[in-house]
Amino acid sequence: MSVAIITGASSGIGREFARQMKEGLGVTEFWFIARREDKMRELAEELSVDATVISADLATSEGIEAVRAALSEKKPSVKYLINAAGFGKFGSFDQIDESAVSGMIDVNAKALVLITHMTIPYMERGGRIVQLGSGSCFTPLPYFNVYSSSKVFVLHYTKSLNHEIKKYGLRATCLCPGWVETEFLGAATDRPDVTVPKAMKPLLTKEYVVKKCLVAMKRGRTMCVINWYTRLQHLLFKILPDSILTKTWLGMLKHPEDSFKGVQEPKEEK
Ligand SMILES: NC(=O)c1ccc[n+]([C@@H]2O[C@H](COP(=O)([O-])OP(=O)(O)OC[C@H]3O[C@@H](n4cnc5c(N)ncnc54)[C@H](OP(=O)(O)O)[C@@H]3O)[C@@H](O)[C@H]2O)c1
Repeated sequence: MSVAIITGASSGIGREFARQMKEGLGVTEFWFIARREDKMRELAEELSVDATVISADLATSEGIEAVRAALSEKKPSVKYLINAAGFGKFGSFDQIDESAVSGMIDVNAKALVLITHMTIPYMERGGRIVQLGSGSCFTPLPYFNVYSSSKVFVLHYTKSLNHEIKKYGLRATCLCPGWVETEFLGAATDRPDVTVPKAMKPLLTKEYVVKKCLVAMKRGRTMCVINWYTRLQHLLFKILPDSILTKTWLGMLKHPEDSFKGVQEPKEEK
C-alpha cells in the first residue's frame, strides 16, 4: 500500500493536504508528523484512514531521529511526501528569541531537507514531493527576515533537487502561496487578537491553496504560485530591484514594530 507522509499535519495547510489527498487521490495510508499528537489522531479518526502518528519536535535532532527510526523500522512504500511543518516570527532581529530564530532555520529548512533525503530511498517511481516555500521567498523582507530567508533556501533547494531525483522518476514542487488563513499568522505575532495588516488581505483559504498545489504537483511543476495576485508579485519581484521591493514592503508595514500588534490599548489622557 502506498503511503503519504505529511509533516505539519496537526494544523493548517498540512492538515488540509491530508483531507484532499484522501478525497482526490484516494490515499488511505498516512504518516502524520508534528508535535501535537492529539490533533493528528483526531485527523486520522475524522478521515477514517490508517495513520502512523509521529509526535516529534522537528527543531530537535531527537525529532528528526524519530522519523528516521520509523522509516527504517517500517520501510514504507512512499508515494507522496508533503513537508508542511514550519513557522515564522515577525519582529526585528533583536526582538525575536534566539530559540525561535534557530527554530525557524531548523524546522523550515534543516528538517525539510533531512526528512526529504531520508524519505527518497523509500519512494516509488512517479512519487511526488511538496515543499512548503512561501510568497515571501521572492524578495528580502525586513522584520520577517529569518523566515523569508529560510523560504528562499527551500525554493532553491527544490529547484536543484529536481535535477537530482529525475533519475528515480520523482518530482518536487515548491508551494509558494501568499498569506493563508491558518494558525500561522497568530503564531507569527504571538497575539490571539492580531489584526492582519490591510496589505495582507484578502487571505487565501487553505482549501484553495492545497487544491491548486495538488494540480501543480500532479503535473510535476517545480513551483506552484497560487493565484494571479501572487503571480503578479512573482513577476514584479523578478523585474524590479530589491531596493524598490523592500521599500514597498516597509511601506505596507508602516511602523514595522507596531504593525502586528492588533487591537491597540487606548492612550491615557493627560
Ligand atoms: N499561512 C500562511 O500565510 C503561509 C504562507 C506561506 C507559507 N506558509 C507555510 O506553510 C506551512 C504550514 O503553515 P500553516 O499556514 O499551515 O501554519 P500552521 O497552521 O501554524 O501549521 C504549522 C504546522 O507546522 C507544525 N510545526 C511547527 N513547528 C514544528 C516543530 N518544531 N516540529 C514539528 N512540527 C512543527 C505544526 O505542528 P505542531 O504545532 O503540532 O508541532 C503545524 O502542524 C509552513 O511551512 C509555513 O511556513 C504559510
